[in-house]
Amino acid sequence: MNKQHLPVRDITVLVNYAGEQYKLLTFTNEYRSLMMLIYDNIFTDGFGECLGMGKCGTCLVEIIKMQTEPTAYGRNEEVNLLKAGQSKETIRLACQLLIDEKMDGLEVKILT
Ligand code: FES
Repeated sequence: MNKQHLPVRDITVLVNYAGEQYKLLTFTNEYRSLMMLIYDNIFTDGFGECLGMGKCGTCLVEIIKMQTEPTAYGRNEEVNLLKAGQSKETIRLACQLLIDEKMDGLEVKILT
């Protein structure tokens, strides 16, 4: 049987945190979410405490630049953002932003 493989695409994400800019390199299917990419590559005190369950609100990021519209709000994301006092469309929970090739060139700022 001939298996078809999906093409692997390189993805570069710029992350601004504590006055520094980090250039994170990944590829399709290496990380599920932006939160896991950041969590695994940058020491960010208190970031992503619920490990992506969308409950803690410690993975807030502001989208500075993105090629396309961000993915739709994840389950309970909009409610949790409102509880955290965030109503700007550019502020999201990084754990609810799924990593795919449309993320290439994304620039975010960590808010927590
Ligand atoms: S990691 Fe807890 S809300 Fe995103």
